[in-house]
Amino acid sequence: MLTISQQEFAQRRQRLMAQLPPNSIALIPAATEILRNGFDNTFQFRQNSDFWYLTGFNEPDAVLVLIPQRAEGEVVLFNRPTDPKAEIWTGRRAGQVGACRDFGMNEAFLIDTFDEKLPEFFKDKTAVYYPIGRNMHFDRQILKAMNRARAGVRRGATAPNNFCNLDALLHTMRVVKSEQEIVIMQKANDISSEAHRLAMRSCQPGQYEYELEAIIRGHCYKHGCRDMAYGAIVGAGENACILHYVTNTAQIKENDLILIDAGGEYENYASDITRTFPANGRFQGEQKAIYEIVLDTQLKLLALLKPGLNWDVIQQTCRRSLTEGLVDVGLLQGNVDSLLEQQAYTPFYMHLFGHYLGLDTHDAGSYKENGQWPGLAPNMVFTIEPGLYISANTPGVDERWWNIGVRIEDNVVITQDGHRNLTTAPKTVADIEALMRDQDVQAAIHDMQSIKKVKSVNSETINKSIAEGRK
Ligand code: GLY
Ligand code: MN
Ligand code: MN
Repeated sequence: MLTISQQEFAQRRQRLMAQLPPNSIALIPAATEILRNGFDNTFQFRQNSDFWYLTGFNEPDAVLVLIPQRAEGEVVLFNRPTDPKAEIWTGRRAGQVGACRDFGMNEAFLIDTFDEKLPEFFKDKTAVYYPIGRNMHFDRQILKAMNRARAGVRRGATAPNNFCNLDALLHTMRVVKSEQEIVIMQKANDISSEAHRLAMRSCQPGQYEYELEAIIRGHCYKHGCRDMAYGAIVGAGENACILHYVTNTAQIKENDLILIDAGGEYENYASDITRTFPANGRFQGEQKAIYEIVLDTQLKLLALLKPGLNWDVIQQTCRRSLTEGLVDVGLLQGNVDSLLEQQAYTPFYMHLFGHYLGLDTHDAGSYKENGQWPGLAPNMVFTIEPGLYISANTPGVDERWWNIGVRIEDNVVITQDGHRNLTTAPKTVADIEALMRDQDVQAAIHDMQSIKKVKSVNSETINKSIAEGRK
């Protein structure tokens, strides 16, 4: 397993503390377990991304407290006690000893003492940094501790007067990835790219969408992803036009285009890949026309990427390229500049070109600062994902175009002079058709060996493949 080193987690904490003003304290809560059903079945635990980014500690019910210049230690964790009886049921816990020994904490206290101890930590501090408004229970705990610290003011203590949102500092750090993070994100991408290849190869009309989801999930899990980064989208035909379709229960028809948007999560780092391919392995006329517009747009956007480039330039290029393509095939009529001004593309293209990617699929970080678009910087990771979606009954659109939904999504990292594409799943029409043809041949060989009737693959190709020793 690739992991982020403890040294890197420690460096992140130091970098964050170095940005805090004097006499401040920062608090970052872990995720809590969430009941799924009944009284004790919980959803699979997923650590809070901010907390994970600073600790690598994967237990619920904990709070990280950073107190720059504290004599007894700057890095404090409140966490669960060890509990041999509970651990038999729900797994090992680090406890306070493990938190200091294995996770670089200077001190660790029982989580049950958090409310009691927090006012002590607040004494003589002027500012409290925490993720304001994300967790009501945590907000209340902070306010309660604050009021108790204020009660001490009469006895000469000072209590913090400034509540500051930690997000801006921490999320700015998360936007630019370290070398270790990029290695892990490449791994998540390699696994997920292969999962997409497998799904293309195994696709047969008549299957259900969830069968392809199973291929994708199976491969990601088999190679070390402990979850998907988000609910896998497997949409065939009309479902490809639903942007975040996750039902995945429809049967795949012969002439459907299938859109799969799925990425494994490796060490809590997301991949987010979309591929679109024909169920029968051959793009039909209108499908191919729309596919080529989206692919051409995606390649244009990729070619632009380099440090300093402004997000908005990418977005404007995306809209222009898709609009030009829609005019070329007759789905929009008129002058491209006027069509862009009218946002005539919106019935077919209604999302942005991409987003930051990291511990979260739609990762932390701001896109506009003080009214300005920040330029791209080396080691930023994000997605490039243009798409076109033509739902049935789109006004003014001939039926032959209906139910074509295409998105092509890659994950990229900005380098010193350009970008590197982390995603390797095939995306040209020729590469996808070749991969799926190969799958036809394999299925046919399998069928021949099982003495079944073989349709649609010519026997010469099969015999040649057998002669070459392929299985
Ligand atoms: N999978 C969600 C997205 O592409 O943004
Ligand atoms: Mn996606
Ligand atoms: Mn995405």
